[in-house]
Amino acid sequence: EPVAEAAPQDEALPKIPLFSDLPRDAFIALFERCPLRRFPEGGRIIEQGTKGDAFYVICAGRVRIVRQAGAELRELAQLGEGAFFGEMALLSGAPRSASVVSASEDTQVLEISAPVLAGLSRSYPQVAKALRRFCRQRLLSDVVN
Ligand code: CMP
Repeated sequence: EPVAEAAPQDEALPKIPLFSDLPRDAFIALFERCPLRRFPEGGRIIEQGTKGDAFYVICAGRVRIVRQAGAELRELAQLGEGAFFGEMALLSGAPRSASVVSASEDTQVLEISAPVLAGLSRSYPQVAKALRRFCRQRLLSDVVN
C-alpha cells in the first residue's frame, strides 16, 4: 500500500491533544477561521474578573495562570504548547477565574470564539466533553488552592 507523503505544512501545525480526533481538514479549517494572537513575555492574555467570550489553545510558548485574592497573587499553574485555557468562563458564564500571562517571548494562542466552539461541539461532541472535564478538574483544584 502506498504511503501518502506528508504535506510540508503538517510540520508547522501544532500538536493539540484537544483536537486529536478532528480530521485534518477540520483542524486546518479551524486554524483558518480563528485568529492567532501573539504575546511577548509578560503580555496579558486574560484578565481575572472580566467577561469571557473565547477560549485559547497554546500553539507556541507558555503561559502562567495567576489568581489575585485580596493582596495575594498566587500562581495556579503553568501551561505549555498544546494546552488550552479560558474554557471556564466560556462554559459557565462566570467571570474569568484567573489572569493568564505569557511566560515566553513569543507565545502564540489560537482564539476560539463561543460560536466557533458551538459549531465544533455539534460536529465533534468529544471536544466539548474534554473541555467540560478539564473545567471540572480545574474548578476542583482551585477550590483547594
Ligand atoms: P477562565 O476562568 O475562563 O479564565 C482563566 C483560566 O485559567 C480558566 O478559565 C482556566 O482555563 C485557567 N485555570 C484556572 N484555574 C486553573 C488551574 N488550577 N489549572 C490550570 N488552569 C486553570
